Amino acid sequence: MATTAAPAGAPALTWEVNDGIAVVVLDLKGQPVNVISHAVKDEFNACFAALADDPSVRAVALFSGKPDNFIAGADIEEFVKLGSAAEAERLAAEGQEMLDRVARFPKPVAVGIHGSCLGGGFEFALACHYRVATDHPKTQIGLPEVQLGILPAAGGCQRLPRLVGVRAALDMILAGKTERASKAFRLGMVDELVAPPILADVTIAAAKRMAAGGGWRPKRKRRGGLMGFLLDGNPLGRRLVFRTARKQVLERTGGHYPAPLAALEAVEYGMRHGLAEGLKREAQLFGQLAVTDVSRKLVQIFFATNQLKKDPGVANAPPPVRVKRLGIVGSGFMGSGIAGTAVAQAEVDVRMKDADLARVAQGILAARAILDDRLKRRRISKYEHARLVALLSGGDTYAGFGRADLTIEAVFEDLAVKQQVLQEAEAAIPETAVFASNTSTIPITRIAEAARAPERVIGMHFFSPVAKMPLLEVIPGARTGPGTVSTAVAFGRRMGKTVIVVKDTPGFWVNRILAPYANEIGHLLAEGASIEDIDGMAVRFGFPVGPVTLLDEVGLDVAVKVAGVMQAALGDRLPPAPGPGVAALVKAGRLGRKSGRGFYLYKDGKKRGVDESVYSLLGVHPNGGPRPAEILQRLVLGMVNESAQALGEGVVRSPRDGDIGAIFGFGFPPFRGGPLRYADDLGAARVVADLERLAERFGPRFAPSEVLQEHARRDTKFYS
Ligand code: NAI
Repeated sequence: MATTAAPAGAPALTWEVNDGIAVVVLDLKGQPVNVISHAVKDEFNACFAALADDPSVRAVALFSGKPDNFIAGADIEEFVKLGSAAEAERLAAEGQEMLDRVARFPKPVAVGIHGSCLGGGFEFALACHYRVATDHPKTQIGLPEVQLGILPAAGGCQRLPRLVGVRAALDMILAGKTERASKAFRLGMVDELVAPPILADVTIAAAKRMAAGGGWRPKRKRRGGLMGFLLDGNPLGRRLVFRTARKQVLERTGGHYPAPLAALEAVEYGMRHGLAEGLKREAQLFGQLAVTDVSRKLVQIFFATNQLKKDPGVANAPPPVRVKRLGIVGSGFMGSGIAGTAVAQAEVDVRMKDADLARVAQGILAARAILDDRLKRRRISKYEHARLVALLSGGDTYAGFGRADLTIEAVFEDLAVKQQVLQEAEAAIPETAVFASNTSTIPITRIAEAARAPERVIGMHFFSPVAKMPLLEVIPGARTGPGTVSTAVAFGRRMGKTVIVVKDTPGFWVNRILAPYANEIGHLLAEGASIEDIDGMAVRFGFPVGPVTLLDEVGLDVAVKVAGVMQAALGDRLPPAPGPGVAALVKAGRLGRKSGRGFYLYKDGKKRGVDESVYSLLGVHPNGGPRPAEILQRLVLGMVNESAQALGEGVVRSPRDGDIGAIFGFGFPPFRGGPLRYADDLGAARVVADLERLAERFGPRFAPSEVLQEHARRDTKFYS
């Protein structure tokens, strides 16, 4: 066996030559994951040059030295330092050159993939001649670049469509998707799928096989049968594929995100003009995208969520308790959603309790439906599904709560009921355990007044539907201990949520800043705006749905309850619109999507048109109403103003947390960076001036917050 040390000063790559096969291992020392940086590129170039010259080497097998990660992508720290499009284009071209060297390497290169293989990491694998991946759930393969507002620019837009066909490649690239290895294998993105213990042997065997055969480049058959040939296999079919994809991208992004369109162009150009020209175009487009404001914003969000993943949520926090068993009281809509998500994501044992066994059974079924859905979408195997389903149990007593490290209550929104449940639970759970309430309107401090151990009581405010909504608000009450905070934050994260810690004030953060936005609907309708105009303007701004649709989703009964609490808390800043308001709809049995009719009608789970009779129930008549631009300004600036006010009151710990809460809590347009970042972009002086004009016309609900006025006076920003 010949051993070659890595070049001096370059400790990430090492290799050994054994029986003609160079086994190369990438392991960035001191880093949690492998990323491709300038330094790593230099090392790869040196390594491949040495292997090319070494006559004892007949083939190469490449692996990662990290236990759960292959290569996470290109080094994003280098990316954010790019100052110009030209610089960015050069960076892409360098990556392409390196991978071109790998692709043209005179000896076969096989790669063994275990753990995440993303972005530049997958592009690296694509340049190799044979790909073996483990069937482990941690092996995730994909090109998520468009999620950062850029495109795969190390040949991904060229090599992937050539490997798996244009349709499958666009499907992955344009949505920035990541797939499990089994799906990647089915699509032809990897050549072999193996169990982790035999990854090295199988990859080395493939390298040997290729070295032994003369024409060693593996032959791949075209996938997709006749359809594949008609659509992927000829220029005419491909033109149709590109046209359809462009239309879908525009529908999905509302034209707000340039990256998927640019990626589409890179693929199309390369398929028409050949690999070399395609690579050039890909690098150029990358250069243009890298310096766009949209990409900057998306990267900021990426960094903010990464920071939040490491944030214990409170200063000087003791380490969190590792929750092994979760208790849930109230197995209704939210309780079952929390239970199913906890099992699916954190794989904890869940014990549910409700008033009677029929409700518990229903709750377990609803929780199980979350697991069924994952099975259906092949996110988990049949075996994993069976194992996870077995973690769900329940009853009509607190039996089984004696081992619950964390209990979350999601019973009726009523202080007395919640306090009683708290006392019952405290009698059953361990003395050291945490009790959390999923209340949306009751102060945690009030609930905790009934507690034996208020230091272990906290709020965990989930959003519906729990399995899909990415945000969790954690709310310490006045007497909550730091260990309780860190345990709730850590468990929320294990449930796959982005967690922000917020102050125990009415509406917490998300409902607080939504309040003026939702309240303005009533005023706009009273002035003759139509429901379609209101929703339409918000969608044009970039919200996934408009505020009226949002209320239907939340449930109008829930919305009325929250509005009552918020009106009591905000007073002048939240005056109700004239007329009977949403309460009239609730009275008429229109609760939103869940009852098949709210502002809109719903059939077979799909939103149909506006229910015109809503206008007469509300006592309003659409007649054109305010100008569209004014509708939007009133909706958005009201929210921006309240965000500034609440930040000033310390409801969130930082503008970062506030913006992340708005983006993940209700879909504030990510490319605008959140309401506070948006205020910075407009400039505080302009926001204040606009609010003052609105306040003159509509009263004190638009009076600019002190925080905004201060920024305007000093010409400062939320983000320095
Ligand atoms: P739900 O009515 O679907 O479920 C409540 C469940 O609690 C019912 O199954 C009921 O039988 C049970 N329950 C009531 N008293 C109980 C007791 N003493 N012991 C055991 N079980 C008891 O209500 P939903 O929508 O799940 O709401 C639950 C909580 O979550 C409320 O505090 C609500 O404010 C909060 N929340 C609701 C959201 C939503 O969108 N629906 C969003 C965020 C929070």
